[in-house]
Amino acid sequence: MEKTFIMVKPDGVQRGLIGEIVARFEKKGFQLVGAKLMTVSRELAEEHYAEHKERPFFGELVDFITSGPVFAMVWQGNNVIATARQMMGKTNPADALPGTIRGDYGVNVAMNIVHGSDSPTSAEREIALWFNEAELNEYEKTINRWI
Ligand code: PPS
Repeated sequence: MEKTFIMVKPDGVQRGLIGEIVARFEKKGFQLVGAKLMTVSRELAEEHYAEHKERPFFGELVDFITSGPVFAMVWQGNNVIATARQMMGKTNPADALPGTIRGDYGVNVAMNIVHGSDSPTSAEREIALWFNEAELNEYEKTINRWI
């Protein structure tokens, strides 16, 4: 089963959108296997965004991600990497369609509420960077036994 890394950025946490974002992925049928509210070190932020190191906004991006707590998550499901990206919408909220997370709540390309892995290779790298094995919960949904 595919897994992806999703993070509610500091703007999403400040604006009280953690529950809204978790609800969207839950209602879609994806399974939460790991989650934590955490303040990000500069070292972790720089490692996470290493591919953007040479870009002019890199310093701003690291400042922003370390400016307040983020809510880091791992979600599991069929095709979850690509589907989560569709649910998030385009990176720039101005281009993101209504109904997507960034289309509904994003302010600008920096304060765009949420991050999601863009490929299986990124998902594997980001999950390993943010979570250790003991923080990832493998479990079966037992809801059908109760309703
Ligand atoms: S993409 O999807 O990789 O093509 O998007 P890109 O435009 O390259 O942006 C990569 C991440 O950098 C963030 N970003 C910025 N942060 C701060 N300031 C500025 N000006 C800025 N421009 C882009 C953008 O939100 C992307 O973050 P993630 O977390 O990967 O979505």
